[in-house]
Order: sequence, then C-alpha cells, then structure tokens
Amino acid sequence: MAHPNLLTATRKPLDITLQVKEGNVPEDMNGFVFINSGAGSINSDGLPFPMTLPDGSPNPEYGSPVINGDGYVFRFDLTEKGKIKLKTDILKTPCYYADVGTSPIVNTKDNRFWNMAFKNFGLARISTQLGTRDQVNTAFTPFKLPNDNQSRILATFDAGRPFEFDPAQIKLITPIGKNTFWQSGMPPFMKQPIAMVLTTAHPVYDPDTKEVFTVNFTKTTKALMEATTIFDRLLPDDLEKTELDLLGKVEQWEQREQNQDLYLEVENFFKDVYKRIDRSWIGKFFDWVGDVFYKYIGHYFTHKNNVFLIRWQGEKDLKSWRILDPEGQGIQINHNMHQIGFSKDYVLLADTNFKFSFDIMINNPFPHNPRIDAFLRRLISGVMEDYSTLYIVNRKDLDVKKKNVKAKRVVLPVETVHFSANYANPNGIVTVHTAHNCSACPAEWIRNYDILKATGERVDKERLGLISVGEMDIGKIGKCVIDVNKGELIDDQTKFLYLTGDLQKPDTGPHTWAVGLYTYREMLSPDRNIDKIEYVYWQSYGLSKQMLTEFIYNLYKSPKRHRTFSAEEMLEFTKQEAPFVLECVDTNIMEATDYYLFPKDYFMWSLQFIPRSVRNNDIPEQKDGYILCTVITTIINTQGTKEYNSEIWIFDANNLKQGAVCKLEHPELTFAFTIHSVWVPDAKSVSQPSYVLNIKDDYNAMIQKMGKKYKAEAQQLFDEYVYPNFNN
Ligand SMILES: [Fe+2]
Repeated sequence: MAHPNLLTATRKPLDITLQVKEGNVPEDMNGFVFINSGAGSINSDGLPFPMTLPDGSPNPEYGSPVINGDGYVFRFDLTEKGKIKLKTDILKTPCYYADVGTSPIVNTKDNRFWNMAFKNFGLARISTQLGTRDQVNTAFTPFKLPNDNQSRILATFDAGRPFEFDPAQIKLITPIGKNTFWQSGMPPFMKQPIAMVLTTAHPVYDPDTKEVFTVNFTKTTKALMEATTIFDRLLPDDLEKTELDLLGKVEQWEQREQNQDLYLEVENFFKDVYKRIDRSWIGKFFDWVGDVFYKYIGHYFTHKNNVFLIRWQGEKDLKSWRILDPEGQGIQINHNMHQIGFSKDYVLLADTNFKFSFDIMINNPFPHNPRIDAFLRRLISGVMEDYSTLYIVNRKDLDVKKKNVKAKRVVLPVETVHFSANYANPNGIVTVHTAHNCSACPAEWIRNYDILKATGERVDKERLGLISVGEMDIGKIGKCVIDVNKGELIDDQTKFLYLTGDLQKPDTGPHTWAVGLYTYREMLSPDRNIDKIEYVYWQSYGLSKQMLTEFIYNLYKSPKRHRTFSAEEMLEFTKQEAPFVLECVDTNIMEATDYYLFPKDYFMWSLQFIPRSVRNNDIPEQKDGYILCTVITTIINTQGTKEYNSEIWIFDANNLKQGAVCKLEHPELTFAFTIHSVWVPDAKSVSQPSYVLNIKDDYNAMIQKMGKKYKAEAQQLFDEYVYPNFNN
C-alpha cells in the first residue's frame, strides 16, 4: 500500500503471501531469497525516525542514517508454484534486549537503567556504559557443517560478531566465537560488556573445504569512542550553555581556514567545557582531541594496528592468525574491512573504501542549531582514500602451529567497497570482480542541515538518513587480474569499465553512475564454488540533484584525487540526472550486454539472482534464472502529492530489457532501504549445533571486567532483561 514518506519501514513480523500487481509469478523458481535491512530502533516503530518524541521534545534519533537499525530479515519463499510467500522478523541479539531494558521510551523514564540507555551516534548505536549494538543488519553468509544436508546462515555486521539464525523461523541460534575471543575496537580503558568488534560484514565460506573465514582488526584511534560520545556527557543545562557559547564562536570559526590554529582553538573551547562539568574526563578528552588534531597535522598514531584472520569450522573456539604486511609489520587498516574474499589457494583481505572517520559517529548533537552541527561535521570529517589495498594470504600458510602469517600486498588504483573472486586461480593468477565507488562515500548520509549543490535548496526532508550517494566521479565495474607471486596487477588483463550513457536521451543506455551492489548465479553458495564468474548483474544508482550535497561536493572536489571527471563536470552530469539501472556485464568482454532503466524517481535497493529450477540449455548457465529486486516506486496521487510503494520486481535474467515479468506488493510490506541478499536452495530449521554459546556465561565474563561504577547495575540489567530470553 502506498505510503506518504519515501523511507518508510515496518518492524512487524510478517507471514504473508505477496499480491501480484502486474504479470505472473514465474513457475520455475525455487529456493529462498533472504534480504537484510535496518528497520529503525526499538524506540522508533520502524522508519522514518520521528522528528519529536511523544512529549514533544526533539528526538535525538531523528535524521539518523537508515543503515543504523535493528536487523530486519525478509525471507521470500519461492517453493510454491506461482506464489511468493514472505516471512520477516527482527533478529533479537542479547544487546537488543539490553536496549529495550534501558530505553526511557519503551521502558519508561523511571526504569532503573535509563542512565545506561543506547543512543544513535551516527552509524553506530552506543551506550557509553554498555557498548555498541550488534545489529546484524547488513549481509548473510550461508554455510554447512560437515554432516549437514541443509543450509545454515550467518547474519553479519561490520561492528559486531556474526550470529547464526534459524532460516525457517528467523530466530537467532548463537553468536559465533565467545565475547572474550573477539578483540574490542574500543580503547582498553573502556570495559564494556557489549564490545564494538571491528570485523567484516562479509565473512566467506568455502564449500569445498567447509571453512568460514572472517577477520577481527584493531586500529589505534586511541580513544575513538570518546570522540563519538563527548556530547552524551553534557547534561541538559551544560548542553544549553555550551550551545549558547558556541553560537557566537562558530560564526567566527566558519570564516577561518581549517588549520592547526583552528583545531587548537576548538580544543581549548571544549577543554573549558569539560573543566566545568567533570574533571575526571579531561585527560581522556585530551586523548580524543589529540587524535583528531594529530590526524590533521599528519601524525596519526599507529601503535596497535592488527589484523587477525579467523578460520571457523564449527568449533566453539575459533582459530586466528595475525596477518603481517610484506615488511613483517602489523597491518594498518585506514578505513575498514567491509569485504573479504577467497579463491582456491588464497584468502583476500581488503582495506575497503567505506571510511571510518569521526564525523560519521555524530548525528545532530545540537538539534536546535544545525549550524553548529554542520560546523562540527566539517571540522572532524575525513575523506576516503582514492585507492584500495588487498592483502593476499596463501591458504597453505595457515598452519595451526603458526601465530603470524605474512601477506602479499596489491594496491588497486580505484576506490573499492565490494568484490568477488573466481574460485579458480591457475598459476597463482587471481581474478577479482570489483565494485568501485569512485568519490562516492557510502559512509556519509544526508543530514537535515544539508544543502543541495545543484539547486542551493535544502535537502528533501524525506531523504534524511539515506546514504549520500551523490557521487563525485563516475563509478566503475572492475575485473582485476592479479599475479599473486609478483604481488601486482596484470595491467593488460585488468579492466575498469565505466559507462556514461547518453544523458540527453530518455533511454540513456547502460551506465555506471554510482555503482552499487551486484549479484550472480550461486554467489555465496553453500554448495559449490564458481570457478569463473561470467555474467554479473549490477545496480547503479544514477544521478540525482536531490542526492549531491554541498558537503559531499566540497569533500570530494579535489583535482588531486584519481578521477575520470572533474568536480565541475560531475555537477553538470548531476544536473542532467540519470535513473537507476539494472545491467548485466559479460566479464569475458567487460561490456554491459543487457540492461533495464527504472522510471525516474524509482529506487532499486537490493538485487538477487535466482536459478531457474529446470536448466534451459539454450541459455548460458549463469544467465538462466531470475533477478529479484526490492523497488520503491513513486506515484503522484490525485491531490498532486508524492506517494511511494514498496514492491518486489522479478526480471528474467536473460532478458532485462523487457522489464519486470512480475511485480508484487502487499499492504503490510514497507521497506526503506534494504541491503545485502542471498539465495539458498532450502531454509529448514537446523539442528542445535555443538558450538551454541551459553549467553549468560558469555556476557557475565564481560560484566566481570567492568569498573565498579556500573557493574552491579549492568548485571541486574542482563539478569532481568537479557538472559530470560535465551534458553541457557
Ligand atoms: Fe556490503
């Protein structure tokens, strides 16, 4: 059913049959498609985040990024001919229940634990006392244990452990690896029971060897978390006074160039605030300021950079190796490790271009004064690099007796956020299919004080929280061919495809403006590896005046970046606009051979290949199937205002151009922004595995380490609100 806000998402568990709006459901589909998404917080009743709280005060969650939300899983059941059934639910991690127990909104202001409540800090949801929510909302990794005849699935997240869930019930089974195994990304003095674990949202499973690989890394932004929580330490009176003092200052500061003097001045201002409120925090605050400050003058502390490669084969205790760079040093991850990959003989680790700077950890600390918020964002923002680094580990080196393993390093000359490798790697030649988000910053989101570059107008309020996909260069689809022994790209076989299309024509043709996600047949299959990926289905977001903000323009306008088009050219392209596209790229020739352009103002978020249940031998195997997409359509109603509808579209993978063969909807189905997906042949309830952790023991081990101040309270909270939800 049409909804008035673009970013509308339900959190309700659904168990429904989708209604056909157009076309027919193909009768030769089977299996299950899972799609992950964030669906707001326990306080928000889905999306959008309301502007005010029930008592009329500003809602601090308003305008939060849509990807900061509880994992809400869609399971499309394609096993009944001519029907698509949908089951959905929220994945309720132990920290979900801690969030409920502390929330002054859902558990009343008088609850004993309100002072430990979680708040949205940009991309993360944090309680300064308890830690960072593991929302498991990003992706999935299907796998099988040696004696399994059905698929198991992990739900994954960049800042928390993966959890296995029951694919039939969409209920969590267990986290993977004990809390005490994973190293926290937070500074050592912060003993929080829900540690922020820096890992990858894309662990991988090799069905040939039945190994799951993932990572755990630490970075040396000494007091990273302090940076994100300073405003939380200001009580309402202090916040008001600080705001008043800041108002005049910001006006002067805005005129100044960002240099050492300005950072010092801002540092001194906050130092005075902290002296006023809580002397014990001054030292730690200095650590934070020091980090921000040093970052800008080029002395970035690097004393505890470590990357651990983790291998899991269904044990309670995971095996890990510290990975060293070719010089024998710990690896420094500049951004994060959103994606990892593997081939027959190698594991591919990456420093991917999804930045992790301070500005993405604050939302709107001064909701009445967006000018202050805008200034602070500008002051502490960072740009992502214009290249990516792959670290390639030889799987033969993963000897259980070893602690450290050296990797080869290969620099990709383009920003990369996702990739998949061919399983075959003849003669040490690895082929990686890469998604390049060139000067397109997926970690940023549209904020309520943003101004559109093309028009000078304020952003459309309906888009608040959407990832800032106003790209500042054209995206690329890559095929990187790597000679691992030499540690370099083979230039004459490596290709970076970009397509502008003809923006003057209504049918622009295929394009790569803002390359997003992709899918191919048996991507992430729990049953077999794909030796050679031949046809990849790609999503590009297109160009929109509504998406390119002045902030993003200024952040990524530098002519010094590796770029195809200048900032000025990108602004002109953006003014011409381009719609979302679904396109098929033949990796043998690196050309887009089929495509479908979505109507203007339609949004396509996730895409998933579904193999046809009976092989049609007239069609190449990797094109023999369907593509399921989540689509938001825009409708102008009879009053002349916009409405939106959340729909599921099915394309014939061998003929995108004809448009969707079936469109489905349901009055209860609403989604704002959906993320990664997977197809699996079955989704049965799985047997209770031997590695299920005892949740009580697992978190009590962390609570034991807490400082005196909140330890007893945290124990009571977990005893009353968390443990009763778990059987053990
Ligand atoms: Fe991803």
